Amino acid sequence: MESKTNDLLNLIKSRRSVRNFVYKKIDNQTIKEIVDCGRWAPSGQNSQPWKVCIVSHPTVKRLIAENSKYGEIIESAYLNFVVFLDLERGYDRVKDILAMGAFIQNMLLAAHAKGLGAVWIGEILKSKEKINQIFKFSPERFELMAVLAVGLIDESLEMKKERKRRTLDEFTDWF
Ligand SMILES: Cc1cc2nc3c(=O)[nH]c(=O)nc-3n(C[C@H](O)[C@H](O)[C@H](O)COP(=O)(O)O)c2cc1C
Repeated sequence: MESKTNDLLNLIKSRRSVRNFVYKKIDNQTIKEIVDCGRWAPSGQNSQPWKVCIVSHPTVKRLIAENSKYGEIIESAYLNFVVFLDLERGYDRVKDILAMGAFIQNMLLAAHAKGLGAVWIGEILKSKEKINQIFKFSPERFELMAVLAVGLIDESLEMKKERKRRTLDEFTDWF
């Protein structure tokens, strides 16, 4: 039990954004397992307000990539999860968005646990209307939350960069 806890904590702490990928197929079972971990995220009133387009087709990836300055990352990743908030399932703006964050983090951790690299791309939200058009999604129903680029890590380019975090003391108060 102790070691399982440590495994989970180490997994959380060792996750990092990966932006350099080797183009290699990720099997559908692995993809489904990553989304399945998202499925178990908490959400207010258990509303589960998520919707995901799973994109590996090069043409669709290109269309998405054209809308981001991180287009190269999007295209070079085997897979992109295009994550939307389903506004019909939502019930409270702040809580819905918090649930989406939990959903996304669960998927990032699952990808990491599978030995894959991933990065959360938020910059693309500036083009959310255009992304909706690609999938023929009405903006009244679906709102883009993030694109997650996922792929095999290119270890030769992904140097172990120093990851910086504020210390606990900087943001905690004890009472
Ligand atoms: C809401 C959000 C938006 C982000 N948007 C981008 C992005 O557009 N492009 C990018 O390269 N990384 C993006 N990131 C990744 C952050 O840059 C990264 O998580 C942060 O620098 C910490 O690094 P780490 O994930 O390696 O620990 C985003 C992360 C979050 C949570």
